[in-house]
Amino acid sequence: MSKKDEGAVLTERARPVTVHETKELQHYGTVARLPIALDASVCAASAGNLNQLLADTMTLRDLYKKHHWQVSGPTFYQLHLLFDKHFNEQSELVDAIAERIQSLGGVSIAMAHDVAEMTLIPRPPRGRDEVPVQISRLLHAHEVVLKEARAMARQAAEAGDDGTNDLVVSEVIRMNEGQVWFVAEHLVDTPLVARDARPQ
Ligand SMILES: [Fe+2]
Repeated sequence: MSKKDEGAVLTERARPVTVHETKELQHYGTVARLPIALDASVCAASAGNLNQLLADTMTLRDLYKKHHWQVSGPTFYQLHLLFDKHFNEQSELVDAIAERIQSLGGVSIAMAHDVAEMTLIPRPPRGRDEVPVQISRLLHAHEVVLKEARAMARQAAEAGDDGTNDLVVSEVIRMNEGQVWFVAEHLVDTPLVARDARPQ
C-alpha cells in the first residue's frame, strides 16, 4: 500500500461513526428482566405508573421554571427564589423516578413531546399569569401528582415492589407535600402592614 493510500485508510478509521437511523435497543413499554427478584409483571406495572408520575413531575418542574421567570409584583424576589428552589428539587425527583424506571428494566420517557402527550396537568398559557393564578396552577399540579402518587405507592406495596413504594412515599409524596405548604401559605390573605381591622 502506498503511503498516500495508507494515510487515507488511517484518516477513514479516525472518522467518528455517527449513526442516526437504527433499530431501537428496547421498545417503550417493555421490560428487560434484571435480577432484582421481582416478577416481570410487577416491574412492568411499576414502570408504567412511574412513567405517568415522571411526565407529571417534569411538567410541574417546568411550571416552576416558567413562574420563576415570569413572576411579578411586590413578592417578586422571594417567589423568584422559591420557585427556582422548588424547580431544582423537582429536577432531582425527575432523575430519581426516571432511574427507578430503568432499574426496573423499563424505559423512561425523556422528551418534551412525550411529556406533553402524557401529562395530566392542564396546559398553562404562554403568557404571564398574575401571582395568585401562578400559585393556584402550581397547587393544582401538586395535587395531581400527590393523588396519583398515593395510589401508585399502595399498588407497589401490595405487589411487593418496596423500592418503588419507598421512592414514591419518601421522596415524591413528602417533597410535594412540603412544597405545597411553602407555596399555599402565600395565598392566605393577611395584612402586610396594618393590623387586620375586619370583624372576627
Ligand atoms: Fe434563574
